[in-house]
Amino acid sequence: MTILVTGGAGFIGSNFVLDWLKASDEPVVTLDALTYAGNLENLSSLDGDARHSFVKGDICDGALVAKLLAEHRPRALVHFAAESHVDRSISGPGAFMRTNIEGTYTLLEAARAYWSELDGAAKAAFRFHHVSTDEVYGSLGADDTPFAETKTYEPNSPYSASKAASDHLVRAWHHTYGLPVLTTNCSNNYGPLHFPEKLIPLMIVNALAGKPLPIYGDGQNVRDWLYVTDHASAIRAVLAGGQVGEVYNIGGWNEMTNLDIVHTVCSLLDELRPDAAGSYKRLITYVKDRPGHDRRYAIDARKIERELGWRPAETFATGIRKTVQWYLANPDWVSRVQSGAYRDWVAQQYSA
Ligand code: NAD
Ligand code: DAU
Repeated sequence: MTILVTGGAGFIGSNFVLDWLKASDEPVVTLDALTYAGNLENLSSLDGDARHSFVKGDICDGALVAKLLAEHRPRALVHFAAESHVDRSISGPGAFMRTNIEGTYTLLEAARAYWSELDGAAKAAFRFHHVSTDEVYGSLGADDTPFAETKTYEPNSPYSASKAASDHLVRAWHHTYGLPVLTTNCSNNYGPLHFPEKLIPLMIVNALAGKPLPIYGDGQNVRDWLYVTDHASAIRAVLAGGQVGEVYNIGGWNEMTNLDIVHTVCSLLDELRPDAAGSYKRLITYVKDRPGHDRRYAIDARKIERELGWRPAETFATGIRKTVQWYLANPDWVSRVQSGAYRDWVAQQYSA
C-alpha cells in the first residue's frame, strides 16, 4: 500500500510525512511544486529511505498526477498543496485561485479516473483526503459558539474563498460521482518547519534578530492554536476511520489573542535566550491592520473526538516551548529559508 501526498514539502505536509513514516512503514510519494513555501530540506531526514519518494511537480498538471496514480497505485491521496498565506492572497490572489481551486479540481478529476478503474476491494478502500481550514467559516463574535461542521460558509479573504471553493468541489465530486472523499477543516497550526511569514515563526525569528514584532491592529484577534503533529495524528485518525463524504473539524481547544501569543513567545525567549537589551517584549510594534481581518476563529472539535476518539496530545504550553526550542536549535534552517524572495516579501508587507 502507498499514499500520495500533495504539498508534502510545506509546513504541515512535511510534518505529516515525517510523522506518518514514524508511525508506519507504508510508503509515501510526495508531490510538491517547491514554491517559495516548499522546502525539500524539511524532508532531508528521509534521504535514502526507500519508503519515501519525492516528485517535483504541479498539482495543476493533470497528466503528471494521472501518471503518478497509475505508477504508484496509492490507496489514498492526501491533499495539502495550497497557497496558504492570507496576506499574500490579499496582495496577489491569482496564484490562490490557480493552485487552490484549479489544482484541487485537477486532482479530483485525476483521482476520479483512477478510482473508477479500480476493482472491488481497492475501489472501496480508496480515499481522497482534502485538508482544509477553519477560515472558510468566516469570523466569530466574542460570544458566538465555536465552528461546528454544520456552520455556514462565510469566507472573507481571497485565501479562504479559494479554500471554500475547493471544499465545495470535493463535496460535489462525492455527491455527483461517488468519489470517496474526506474533508478536514483545521485551526491555526504551529510547530517546527513553519515558514517565518506566519505569526509565530515570524515573531521568533524577528525577536532573535532584534527586529520589530509587528502586531496587526489592536492584537486582540483570536485564533485556536494546534500543534502541528496533533494535526497529523488527526488526519491519520480520519483517514483510518472517517465516514466517507463527512467533514471533521480539527482544533486545539486553545483560543488565544495574538497579543497573548506574542507575549508567550517573548517570555520563552527571555528564559531560553535572554537578551542583554531587556525583554523581547520591547520589540512589540503595532502596525496597520490586515484588510478584512477576521476577528475570531474557534473550532468545536467534539465530532472527531466522539466518532474517532481523537484529542490533541499537546497543550499550548508544551507545544510552544518545543517550537521555540526548535527554532533556537535550527538557525541554519531559518537563514536558508530567508532567501532573496523572502526578504522582498517582508520588505513589501511591512514597509508602511
Ligand atoms: P505551506 O504554504 O507551508 O505549504 C504548501 C505546500 O504546497 C508547499 O510545499 C508548496 O510548495 C506546495 N504547493 C503550492 N502550490 C503547489 C502546486 N501548484 N503544486 C504542487 N505543490 C504546491 O502550507 P501549510 O501551512 O503547510 O498548509 C498545508 C495545507 O493545510 C493547506 O491546504 C492549508 O490551506 C491547510 N491549512 C493550514 C493551516 C495552517 O495553520 N498553516 C491550518 C489549516 C489548514
Ligand atoms: O485558521 C487556519 C489558518 O491559519 C490557515 O488556513 C492559514 O493557512 C494559516 O496561514 C493561518 O491563517 P492566519 O491568517 O490566522 O495566520 P497568520 O499566522 O498569518 O496570522 C495569525 C494572526 O496573527 C492573524 O490574526 C494575523 C496576525 N498577524 C500575522 C502576522 C503575519 C499579526 O498580527 N502580525 C503579523 O505579522
